[in-house]
Amino acid sequence: MSDQPNEPHQTHNINPPALQTFIKQILIANNTPPPHAEIISKCLLSADLRGVDTHGSNRIPSYIERIRQKALDPTATPTIQQITPAAAQVDAHNGFGFVAAHEGMKLAISMAQTFGIGMVSVKHSNHFGMSAWLVQQALDADMMSLVFTNSSPALPVWGGREKLMGVSPIACGAPAGQGRPFILDMAPSVAARGKVYKALRRGERIPTDWALDKDGARTDDPAEALGGVMLPMGGPKGSALAVMMDVFSGVLSGSAFAGHVTNPYDPSRPADVGHFLVAIKPDLFMTIEEFKGRMDYLYRRVVESERMDGVDRIYFPGEIEMITEEKRLAEGIPFTTAEIESLNREADLVKVERLKVSTLE
Ligand SMILES: NC(=O)c1ccc[n+]([C@@H]2O[C@H](COP(=O)([O-])OP(=O)(O)OC[C@H]3O[C@@H](n4cnc5c(N)ncnc54)[C@H](O)[C@@H]3O)[C@@H](O)[C@H]2O)c1
Repeated sequence: MSDQPNEPHQTHNINPPALQTFIKQILIANNTPPPHAEIISKCLLSADLRGVDTHGSNRIPSYIERIRQKALDPTATPTIQQITPAAAQVDAHNGFGFVAAHEGMKLAISMAQTFGIGMVSVKHSNHFGMSAWLVQQALDADMMSLVFTNSSPALPVWGGREKLMGVSPIACGAPAGQGRPFILDMAPSVAARGKVYKALRRGERIPTDWALDKDGARTDDPAEALGGVMLPMGGPKGSALAVMMDVFSGVLSGSAFAGHVTNPYDPSRPADVGHFLVAIKPDLFMTIEEFKGRMDYLYRRVVESERMDGVDRIYFPGEIEMITEEKRLAEGIPFTTAEIESLNREADLVKVERLKVSTLE
């Protein structure tokens, strides 16, 4: 592989630990406290590893621009207010969403360990990337979880034509024994808007059922799609799920809602995102062994179910991403030359050593 890549869309496999160190250094050089930079870089790397390229390290330039424009405070430390023994609120104070949500899930898990359930509302936060890393945080503690967030307007409500609701992901999970854990993490749109940004970055077209342009016509052009609206999945049901994310994350927390969250790519003002996090102890009604045995049985029933013609394999929710993670841990994470250059521009600005393609493969 060349040291001087010049094809913008050529991909190069990047070594995961080296990438995390690089991202951490950029964050620290932009006034992020090292323990926070550790959490953020780990979450971004987790998205890169799981194949959720739309919500991984490629987001760094947009986050750093928010720091530069003082729309996000990288030094903010979240504070906690315990409301009841099983309910607490985290105020992110306009710091990184990753840090406040990580603190929130830690707290939800600790309440669930004592009371069976822990519920945390996070206010005045920012984009936290891929929701699945929070589900994984709960799984690492053998907990079930619900992970909701709201986000900036991208989707019309059913029957509407203006961007109003966010493409706000709904995520949840449950641990298993021998089989794969359950990790559902999905945007209520046909596709996450991050997939449109990724296509724009990579010079690709998008499927015509993802979005409408500003005139309400179907489009395969990512730039036109970003000027228009994302389409909800399942018609009114996807639109209703987006409203649900706003109720639980925005209305309940005291953060922005009803179309007032700022886009993560708009560095002009704080985003004021809200999150809703619940951890649930799975062995409330039976032993943990019995619960996990039942999850394993469910996994087998799902993946061994009779297949439709043309289907080679049935996957459990989250399984495709877990398989991608195993592959990328072994082979590295593919980034295009243009994406590496964009990260390196941030490195240059703060005098962090550039990602050298040849040394990272
Ligand atoms: N923080 C934010 O504001 C924000 C906003 C939008 C999206 N996101 C993130 O974007 C990511 C992508 O969202 P998406 O809706 O495009 O995801 P997706 O459509 O790729 O996957 C959605 C879910 O379906 C499952 N799945 C997909 N294909 C499957 C198959 N063939 N068999 C079985 N299960 C399958 C996946 O495991 C996943 O749980 C998510 O990680 C989400 O958290 C974040």
